[in-house]
Amino acid sequence: MSFTDKSDLRLPPLGRRLRLGFVGGGRGGLVGAWHFSGARLSNHWEVVAGALSTRPENAAASARDWCIAADRSYSDYRLMAATEAARPDGIEAVSICTPNNSHADIAAAFLRAGIDVILDKPMTSVTADARMLVEVQRATGVSLTMTYPFSHHAMVRQARALIARGEIGRIRQVHVEYLQDWNFAAQEAGNIGWRQDPSVVGRSSIVGDIGTHAYHLLHTMTGLDVAEVRADMFVCGGAKPQPDTAHIGLRLTNGAPGLLHLSNATIGQYCGLRIRIWGDRGALEWDQETPERLRLIPLEQEERIFLRGARQGVLPEAEHLIHLPRGHGETLTDAWANLYAEAGVLVASRRSGTDLGLAPLVLSGAADGLRGMTFIDACADSWEAGGRWTALAG
Ligand SMILES: NC(=O)c1ccc[n+]([C@@H]2O[C@H](COP(=O)([O-])OP(=O)(O)OC[C@H]3O[C@@H](n4cnc5c(N)ncnc54)[C@H](O)[C@@H]3O)[C@@H](O)[C@H]2O)c1
Repeated sequence: MSFTDKSDLRLPPLGRRLRLGFVGGGRGGLVGAWHFSGARLSNHWEVVAGALSTRPENAAASARDWCIAADRSYSDYRLMAATEAARPDGIEAVSICTPNNSHADIAAAFLRAGIDVILDKPMTSVTADARMLVEVQRATGVSLTMTYPFSHHAMVRQARALIARGEIGRIRQVHVEYLQDWNFAAQEAGNIGWRQDPSVVGRSSIVGDIGTHAYHLLHTMTGLDVAEVRADMFVCGGAKPQPDTAHIGLRLTNGAPGLLHLSNATIGQYCGLRIRIWGDRGALEWDQETPERLRLIPLEQEERIFLRGARQGVLPEAEHLIHLPRGHGETLTDAWANLYAEAGVLVASRRSGTDLGLAPLVLSGAADGLRGMTFIDACADSWEAGGRWTALAG
């Protein structure tokens, strides 16, 4: 691999597929299958091992579904970490797709075994565990990548590149919403049930589950962070122990105000992650449900729609995330594949000692995972204090 040519922003071929394991992701789980298809589609990974479920019969059946050999299907992640680390052909990275309160122990076990970690958000259920993971990652030098798939859409990178080039000028305000409609049941089994249990999900179900995505998207596109929040939270769907809706005022690090609207109790909204960014020279709009289009409105000039796959106007920073011509849809599966392609380059370069240099990777590491937890804490603190402006810690 070489990352020295500035004009070549494509990802280099790795020469072989990296060996990947999974914890979680078995039959009945939600997000594991998305990771799996992204890893396969990226062509950078072969899934060869897994502790896919807490239920041994489910773990074994799920391993068969994914063509994992029976002797590499484990009933316990600790056994998997130790066994795989000792094998000459052991896994080089693990994807962790389990509920939030299990992330810290599982990720620490693999980091300590020298196995690179790909960890779903939010990083943990409590911030102290996230700090511990940051320490373990630093001490081991093994990579930890957080998975925020929306930031791997080509048009999100296009927006980021346009903002970095000053196309909309200084950012003056932002509006982000993430609206869904599945949370009208009071309490359900499976992957909805644990999202209402603070001991599993953490201090705020709604901010941890979808607020972290919105916060991350805002940061990825604008390069700005959130300095302070003022949060109000509500139950708008069925009666339940945790709010399903949040209205959050933001103050960004450049002083600009912002608004974040989160809910999974808004009928007719399916996966409505939408962002509008207003600068002093123009504005940008992007919607996760139509991810191939990006709207740029320069001040007092004709607006432009950038289209993924079109030749004109797409910047090099977005090019390496585009695989098909315009009109041939690329969507969330492709964003996951882009994430796994970038993570593959990171893991391969760490393992081979190659300097990443100019590689066009936009990945989130351990510090970003901890920052996500800090954001959740600030929102929860603000709400508990009656909606007081609250600074994000550290
Ligand atoms: N990045 C995204 O877009 C995205 C989307 C959805 C969920 N998530 C995150 O992914 C994680 C999982 O969410 P989900 O909805 O898929 O949960 P889920 O409940 O549907 O699935 C979790 C799976 O993990 C397994 N599991 C739990 N503990 C385990 C252990 N110790 N060993 C092996 N398997 C174990 C369960 O058996 C289950 O199969 C959560 O942290 C969630 O926040 C991220």
